[in-house]
Parts: sequence; structure tokens; C-alpha cells
Amino acid sequence: MSESANSAEYSKQTTSLWMHTAETPLLGPLLEDLEVDVCVIGAGIAGLSTAYLLACEGKRVVVLERGQVGGGNTGRTTAHLSNEIDDRYSTLERIRGKEGARLAYDSHTAAIEQIGIIVRDERIECDYERIDGYLFLGRGHKESELDHELEAAHRAGFTSAEKLSTSPVPALNAGPCLRFPDQGQFHPLKYLSGLCRAITRHGGQIFTHSAVDEIVGGERCTVRTKDGRTVHAGSVVVATNSPITDRFAIHTKQAPYMTYVVGLQVPPGTVPRALLWDTEDPYHYVRLQWVAGTAGSEPHELLIVGGEDHKEGQADDGAKRFEALESWTRERFPGAGPVVERWSGMVLESMDGLAFIGPDPEGGANVYVATGDSGMGMTHGTIAGMLIRDLVLGRENPWADLYDPRRKPVLAARDFLRENLNVGVQYASWIAPGEVKSVADIPPGTGALLRHGAGKLAVYRDDTGHLHARSAACTHLGCPVAWNSTESTWDCTCHGSRFDCHGKVINGPANHDLHPLGQDDLKTLA
Ligand code: FES
Repeated sequence: MSESANSAEYSKQTTSLWMHTAETPLLGPLLEDLEVDVCVIGAGIAGLSTAYLLACEGKRVVVLERGQVGGGNTGRTTAHLSNEIDDRYSTLERIRGKEGARLAYDSHTAAIEQIGIIVRDERIECDYERIDGYLFLGRGHKESELDHELEAAHRAGFTSAEKLSTSPVPALNAGPCLRFPDQGQFHPLKYLSGLCRAITRHGGQIFTHSAVDEIVGGERCTVRTKDGRTVHAGSVVVATNSPITDRFAIHTKQAPYMTYVVGLQVPPGTVPRALLWDTEDPYHYVRLQWVAGTAGSEPHELLIVGGEDHKEGQADDGAKRFEALESWTRERFPGAGPVVERWSGMVLESMDGLAFIGPDPEGGANVYVATGDSGMGMTHGTIAGMLIRDLVLGRENPWADLYDPRRKPVLAARDFLRENLNVGVQYASWIAPGEVKSVADIPPGTGALLRHGAGKLAVYRDDTGHLHARSAACTHLGCPVAWNSTESTWDCTCHGSRFDCHGKVINGPANHDLHPLGQDDLKTLA
């Protein structure tokens, strides 16, 4: 299969609003060996924030990206910039203590401000604005939930958070809610484009379509690309969403979830400009975005609603989840117009709701990692930039212990156990029958698992009827993959790896494509 054909098939994935309302820079692959101070792997918000802040310090920085700038989960976020913790301060305080909650508040607050400073200094037009956030009770939820959260937020230092007895958005809930002032939102890919320009202006280099094959830590680190180029660097930063360097250390402490988003046109001014969240589990998250008109559409305000999360690879009912989000929205905002956007993204939920940022437990000396977005990828990605900059420069940073990837959140042991038992169940599913008995049962444009001897095959039939079969064993640690019909991808059921319909890896921790079949195996399928 040629690269161009692969790309065409890969584009069957849903695209987000951001992907078709901003142009990220068209850059090329690394074509020579390099000597630099810092090599950053991954051109999402964590990688580019780190590269930018280190380039501003005079470091010689290179960024290597497997695909395109923002082509991963930064392009699939809904870009809430929030210092109200996704898993709530009340939970964080129980797991990491009062001091941990206070440092989390400080760091997320600093991240929103840091983004504002970069936007101002680098004159990035990315629709950045500061707005309020509101937490509403889900149906049947008790008001005491709000009280506990407000008290914990105050103890963490968020003293401007307040309880309102009546809601400013009665469509969501007319009763009490919490208001969190000074949250933010932006257009994430316009922001990344601005970061790229700024990195280049500060002397940094960015290469796309430059997949990394090997990272060797040490006093002088070595990074080898799959195309045979070598980068020697004083430090390496692995910012690949889910780290490609680790086998167990981090992946047993975080779990991948898919989340779904719909965008509905709404008449301007009918929904308040704010970040809106409810207390359901999984919860709903809502914001507005102004969309400029194009040849095919008038300018409009878009209501962006997310939720309906599930463990990656363990449900294939995206159409139903989009429908559920749409009906949830229409019930509350009956004036909403047509659904014009649908996309999904991945969230890596850590055991304590905080990212893993710092020395890579399995990466060797001078290798750093940023992962575990926990639904706060934009602020965690920016915190990664600030914290890893300081670690590389040998500066003290008060957040270093809080985000240390080597930490063991013992008070989250129950969640840790539940997620790892779930992984065990996925391995056990190898003995279950295939989803289809024969390739004849696979319609064009879909994929299914087929038993093949002692193993299973991931078989995809393209729109022209041709079959493409690979081993169904994820190349990270051998969990079975599952077909994702919403995105036309093969998603690992354990730690977050994803592969396009031809088995080409598109998300770590796997760093290699699904294994192809031998000619003899292929003949037996026909
Ligand atoms: Fe770990 Fe697939 S991501 S086995």
C-alpha cells in the first residue's frame, strides 16, 4: 500500500472543527543528521510549548513529528482552558492532599496566564479569551456535591470561586451552580500555528513526517528516525500523547478513553459565552465558538458539546453516542440549529487526575516525558512546557514532585486496580471467537476480527472490496485491537495505541505498525 493511498484512507477519520478552520504549517521531514541542545518528539501542545519556551531561553531546539502539526489529540480537543480540575478539587485533595491541590491550582492558573502571555508576545490570532466557567448539577445529583467542591476549591487557593443560588444558564439547570471566574478558551490549531512561527523565529526547527524509531538516553542522547536520520541532543522530550518510550511504568497508571463531540449552529447571543460543565459521569462539557463564513456557509456561532466517554476499544457505537449528545443538547437548547460538526478524541485518564510530566521512568538519563492529559490537555500541555523547561535548565520548580511520572498515587489504588483488571480482561479475550466466521461477512468500508489459528486477524475490506489483513495483536504489549467504525481505525483495548485501517500506527504507545501477514496466510483468507 503506497503512502499516499494510506493517507487517503486515514483521512476517513472524522475531522474536528479546528482542523478545517485553520491551516497548520506544511513542513517537511528531517533529511540530515543534527546536533542540538533539545530534541522534542511530538508537535502537539505539550511538545510545541516545551520547544517554544526552551527556544526563548536560547536553546537549540528541534521538534520531530510523526504526522502533521496538531494532527493528534490537540486537534481533537474542545480547548477549555480551565483551572477547575476536571476530576474536581474534592477528589484531588483526597488523593494528593491539600498541598497537592494547591499546587495543581497554581499550575493550571499559571498555564492559562502563560498561554495569554505567548498569545500577546507573539501576536497569535487564535480567538483566545478569558470567560467564566460554571459547574451545574446533573439530574438527581445533590447540592452537597457543589458545596464540597467549593470548599475544596477554596482550600486549594481558588478563593474567587463562588456558589450562585440561581443559574445564569437555566437551560442546563435553573438551580444552584458554582462559578469559576477567569477560565479561558481558544482555537487550538491557530495557537499551534502561531507557536510554530515563534519557534522558528527563535531559531528552532520543526520537521513533520519524521517518525522516531529509537531514543537512547544518556549524557548525550541519541534519537533515530525511521528514515535513518540521527539527532544528538543534551535532552529529549517525549511529548507523543501516550509515550512511545514506555512499556509498563506509566501505562499501568493511566487509561485511555474515547470522548465524543458535536457542534450545532445556534443563533448569535442565545447561549452565554462561558465554559459549562455538569457533574454527571461521564460529564458534559460545553462552549461556544464563532465560525467565520466560507463559500458554503454563513458566519455562525457554534455550540460545541462533548461527553459520552468510554474506554478506548471497548465500544463501537459512536453513531449512538453522537445521537445521545445531540438529543441532550436539543432538550436543553431547543433553538439550536443543525449539527454541523462531529468528531471524537482520546483522553488519557491518570489515576489521580494529574498529568505525568518530568523524567521518563523508562527513558534513560536526560529523557523527559509529558502524558496523562486527564481531560485538561491544553493546560497540562502548557504546564509541561514550563516544568520541563525548568528541569532541562536545572532550575527549581515547585510543581516537579506533583507531576513526577515516577509517583505512585497510593490513595488511588482502587482505580489503579480496576483499570489494570480491565486490561487483564482484554488479554483474556484472545480466547474468544472472532467477530466474523469468514471474510465474506465483512462489508466494504468496515473491519472485523477473524480467528486465525491460535491468534486473530484485524481484517479491513476497503470500499473497492479489497481485503487488508494484519495481526490483531497491538505492537505495544500484544493486547487485541478492536475496530472503530466511527474513525475507521483499529484501537487497542489496553493502553491507547491506535492504528489506521491498514494497520499503520497513528497513536502511541505502540511505535510500530500492526504486523503484516505472510503470503501463505493471505492466500488462506481469500
Ligand atoms: Fe499497550 Fe496496545 S497499547 S498493548
